[in-house]
Amino acid sequence: MIHLKGISKTYSGARAVHALNNVDLQIPAGKIFGIIGSSGAGKSTLLRCINLLEVPDAGEVWVGGTRLDTLTPRELRRARQKMGMIFQHFNLLTSRTVAENIAFPLEIAGVPAKERQRKVANLLEIVGLADKAQAYPAQLSGGQKQRVGIARALANDPQVLLCDEATSALDPETTKSVLKLLQSINQRLGLTIVLITHEMPVIQEICDFVAVMENGIVQETGPVIDVFTRPQSEAARRMLRGTFAQNIPPELLHRNNNGEPHRVLKLSFVGERAHEPIISQMVQHFKVDANILFGRIDQMKDLPFGMLVIELVGPEEQLDQAVGFLESQHVELEVLV
Ligand SMILES: Nc1ncnc2c1ncn2[C@@H]1O[C@H](COP(=O)(O)OP(=O)(O)OP(=O)(O)O)[C@@H](O)[C@H]1O
Ligand SMILES: [Mg+2]
Repeated sequence: MIHLKGISKTYSGARAVHALNNVDLQIPAGKIFGIIGSSGAGKSTLLRCINLLEVPDAGEVWVGGTRLDTLTPRELRRARQKMGMIFQHFNLLTSRTVAENIAFPLEIAGVPAKERQRKVANLLEIVGLADKAQAYPAQLSGGQKQRVGIARALANDPQVLLCDEATSALDPETTKSVLKLLQSINQRLGLTIVLITHEMPVIQEICDFVAVMENGIVQETGPVIDVFTRPQSEAARRMLRGTFAQNIPPELLHRNNNGEPHRVLKLSFVGERAHEPIISQMVQHFKVDANILFGRIDQMKDLPFGMLVIELVGPEEQLDQAVGFLESQHVELEVLV
């Protein structure tokens, strides 16, 4: 759906900033794609390159089979109407009502008044603000303002919705409800959502794919479940730190168990496997003792995913067999000690 090829962008000034450095990224249609990274990583610059609000110094921008960076200004304006955008600080017109804000992009696109009215009413319904049509932005909460921003972004039936820190100004409860709205829009309208955030929980909650950015480079990209359970890059591991128990308390690895043979294993479970009694089967089959040292289960979008650190104690041969059994069960497994 969206294909960025070799995108670079340098901001010149007293000190040149290499905001993007040869970025390649493919974003599949109909999915929610998250871009995460710390402040200054280049996320906003990258997002703005997708709709050419920022013109890259090098590279190609493809959206829906069309190369955008070589279009004439007029063609680009038309292409942009198929891409909605929402912002951290909403950017609403304060002197216009909610309905008038949502109607604004329709006016620009030359949609007749009657059709505008119909569309605005429908959009108000979608974002759950039918009763606020005549209110002004100043009379709305942050979450309601962002809903107006979303409705406005959807006005011209875009195929892509670009979200720059859309929930960063909102409290956790409101964040959840706005994320749910984005998810339902993705499912209902089938549009592709690209979402920038510096918060892992946002990625965990609604994204299908994630790209981790640092220093203007995409350090890692893939399905969220893969990046969360098997981060390959130092940048991804850093982003995950604190959010998930990627780090095992070191004292667990240096337990004194009286010199008996033992193994310490880290197991990751994804999906239905998170609920299966694999450990108890192993204990019964191989007559080893298993101590659970550490564990947690999280939810990723609709998928349960768990992490467990266990210590196995028993004769060497049985330990090897037990580990072999777990591996044969397709459990993601790391032998720590
Ligand atoms: N218009 C500009 N002129 C000069 N430098 C800029 C401009 N916009 C961004 N930069 C610089 O480019 C780098 C990347 O900025 P960008 O806004 O893309 O980062 P970001 O990942 O979105 O950060 P944040 O999480 O703080 O929003 C930063 O070092 C920033 O200072
Ligand atoms: Mg930014």
